[in-house]
Amino acid sequence: MKIAVLKETVEAEKRVAMIPDSVKRLVKRNIQVTIQSGAGEAAGFTDTDYEKQGGTIATAADLASADAFVKVLPPTLAEVDNLPDGKTLISIIHPMTRHDLVHKLAAKKITAFGMDVIPRTTLAQSMDVLSSMSTITGYKAVLMAANSINKFFPMLMTAAGTLAPTRVMVLGAGVAGLMACATAKRLGAVVEATDVRPEVREQVKSVGAKFLAVKSDESGAGEGGYAKEMSDDYKQKQAEMIARHIAKADVVIPTALIPGRKAPILITEAHVKSMKTGSVIVDLAAEMGGNCELTEMDKDVVKHGVLIIGNSNLPSTMSCHASQMFSKNVERFISHLTDENGFKMDMNDEITKGSLVTRNGEVMHAMTKKLMAQGDNNG
Ligand code: NAI
Repeated sequence: MKIAVLKETVEAEKRVAMIPDSVKRLVKRNIQVTIQSGAGEAAGFTDTDYEKQGGTIATAADLASADAFVKVLPPTLAEVDNLPDGKTLISIIHPMTRHDLVHKLAAKKITAFGMDVIPRTTLAQSMDVLSSMSTITGYKAVLMAANSINKFFPMLMTAAGTLAPTRVMVLGAGVAGLMACATAKRLGAVVEATDVRPEVREQVKSVGAKFLAVKSDESGAGEGGYAKEMSDDYKQKQAEMIARHIAKADVVIPTALIPGRKAPILITEAHVKSMKTGSVIVDLAAEMGGNCELTEMDKDVVKHGVLIIGNSNLPSTMSCHASQMFSKNVERFISHLTDENGFKMDMNDEITKGSLVTRNGEVMHAMTKKLMAQGDNNG
């Protein structure tokens, strides 16, 4: 079996889907790995590094004859055009919102696996790129906020007087949110976090942050460890709670996500108006419309004296470790899906079934199929 590692075509993307260490381990399993020249360069891995670990630098013939292609970002429609028909693709796909891409992959009879839709189960933990990338995102969001705010994070008692610590508020304490809490705490900030899933209260406390509860019996725990849409009554109470705390916060990091949906608005313009001049919001949900109604994707904007950062690709700013984590996830995924004869395609396996987006011209991913049938195309 031959796997080709593709170079990312989006200019701002610095990650690579497989690093030389993973190539070495796959080669040991008798999988040939060919790499598009320069694919790892922006993440710090040269062609020679790959060759030293048993990879080859891809010729046009290698690309034409590869059985599977791996990359980080969803391919552009033009990239799909360039893939040979009927081959396998492994990458982030965002199938629930990118219906145009799913149609195209099906039309080319590509067997497409979405790294972003691998079920979040214990067994699949080592393949979970969303968790890997969110770990980086939560960390980097805090560093960006610290770099942008005109204050120290820790409380300082100096000869020139006592400086109050920065107050950080995190909305949504999943993987990115908990990492943001832990990072802000390590820098000395006072950290508060809220979430619709009451079970994360203990996790928030365990990283040294205070949990802000909404006074409601409603639980937001949905399927597969994700949140569900909340009632209007809950949203009202949550908005009031946020209003009470946001006016005192210096940094707000919203991360709330419901898979396949537009991000819920948790920070209204009125909330922003109530914040102190010079405060910072790093909106991690920018790509899905933002948790703040004033966020603009991939822009830094100042509204009512508050800086709102809408960077949608923070993992790429830490391309070395992001690639290392992504690569390990892809390597474990490939090892899980294959045996000595190639891809097993065991449809009784929950990881195969959950991550398979298209095959033989058909849409296979259940939730994507349902959304496409509803014509709910946000792509
Ligand atoms: P996650 O699913 O682990 O965490 C999201 C958390 O938000 C969950 O704990 C959930 O219960 C909570 N939540 C959902 N709706 C809520 C609401 N209405 N109010 C309060 N809490 C709510 O997701 P993860 O992996 O931590 O990702 C967080 C966000 O970061 C996502 O929006 C994801 O798309 C984004 N992200 C952004 C990147 C960037 O570069 N900007 C890169 C990677 C992820």
